[in-house]
Amino acid sequence: MNRIPLWTKVVCGLGVYAGTSVLVKEKLGGPDFDAAVDIGGKVAIVTGANSGIGFEVAKELASRGAKVYLACRDKDRCAAAREDIYLATDNKNIFCRYCDLSSLESVKRFVRRIRKDEDKVDLLVNNAGVMWGAREVTTDGFETQLGVNHLGHFFLTNLLVDSLKKGAPSRVVNVASTAHFKGKINVQDLNSANDYSESGAYNQSKLANVLFTRELAKRLQGTGVTVNAVHPGIVDTNIVRNTGFFTSMLMFILKPIAYPFIKNSKQGAQNVLHVALHPDLEQTTGKYFNLREISEPSNEALNEKLGLWLWLTSEKWTKLQETCKELNIQPLTHPWESVNNISIPDSKLKSNSLHVNTVSQVTSSNLTTNTLAS
Ligand SMILES: NC(=O)c1ccc[n+]([C@@H]2O[C@H](COP(=O)([O-])OP(=O)(O)OC[C@H]3O[C@@H](n4cnc5c(N)ncnc54)[C@H](OP(=O)(O)O)[C@@H]3O)[C@@H](O)[C@H]2O)c1
Repeated sequence: MNRIPLWTKVVCGLGVYAGTSVLVKEKLGGPDFDAAVDIGGKVAIVTGANSGIGFEVAKELASRGAKVYLACRDKDRCAAAREDIYLATDNKNIFCRYCDLSSLESVKRFVRRIRKDEDKVDLLVNNAGVMWGAREVTTDGFETQLGVNHLGHFFLTNLLVDSLKKGAPSRVVNVASTAHFKGKINVQDLNSANDYSESGAYNQSKLANVLFTRELAKRLQGTGVTVNAVHPGIVDTNIVRNTGFFTSMLMFILKPIAYPFIKNSKQGAQNVLHVALHPDLEQTTGKYFNLREISEPSNEALNEKLGLWLWLTSEKWTKLQETCKELNIQPLTHPWESVNNISIPDSKLKSNSLHVNTVSQVTSSNLTTNTLAS
């Protein structure tokens, strides 16, 4: 044994580790979503479909015969993804549509075009996301993680509600994260203008995904449109591209060790596909899925007043009602609701601060109670 050179031992050791890692990853990654569901000709929209989980979701929808719209912010990356999906599935009904969720105008244009091209939408997968990075703001002055991950999708979904209703039974799937457990909705500074932390803003945006899911589900009761949120697992994708130097280095070093326990994009996508397509979930709405299981979200996510506050604030900040009027869409608002006491964002402010009045100001005039119970 001692006559075996060291380098041979090292190579063998690495080989055994690599082989075991692959097997463990395969096992822990979970099975493919293989329920027989006929979605031939159904109209599906996937945001952020050019990369990671969204790409794999779009590919599987295409391979099952759906008409898939890839809603992406980069035309070239979208075209490349479309080509790959077409070559893999032979489905010609894959379309690239420009949709930058960091611009309300872009989202509005995207919706106009979809409404022109399609009578109905059967499935909307709100998948696009950004994580971490220095504080930036969107075209409309929203902190980028909140703006893209929550407000862009809030606006998009609301503008597609009429199309989704026509597709009923239809589904909305919001790709959230266990990061929401660490999230807080900062009602005094939702836009993180005064106090920004990259992980804090991400966690807040993912909590917003779950609160939005629950509030939207209430508003869609009886329409045949369901909405659920799903954590896809820890998945090896491009999402970490904006992290700083030290975090990137740490991830680089830890990646070989963590490799067996992190899902690849295809494995992560199976959990989203489960929520999007499983026939047993046709009536299920307003739920949070951890992988493929319905799971209890955080206490904050269950706070109904907070969900309503976030909805009203999002409605006001995105000027949703005006846009609904402009596009002739029936908004999901209640007649007794008013957002008049929430100050409007002013993207021209030097700090890009979207100053929000206190919750008591919002609730005292609009809600039945005047505190945000936790
Ligand atoms: N990966 C994980 O471990 C994990 C865990 C929990 C939840 N998630 C969630 O899963 C979702 C998908 O992320 P991923 O991991 O698959 O990451 P990814 O590979 O980085 O994919 C994110 C997608 O979002 C798109 N996007 C970013 N900003 C956009 C904008 N302004 N407008 C339109 N599209 C935009 C990206 O487009 P570009 O390619 O042009 O940048 C990309 O296509 C995210 O919502 C993320 O929060 C991921």
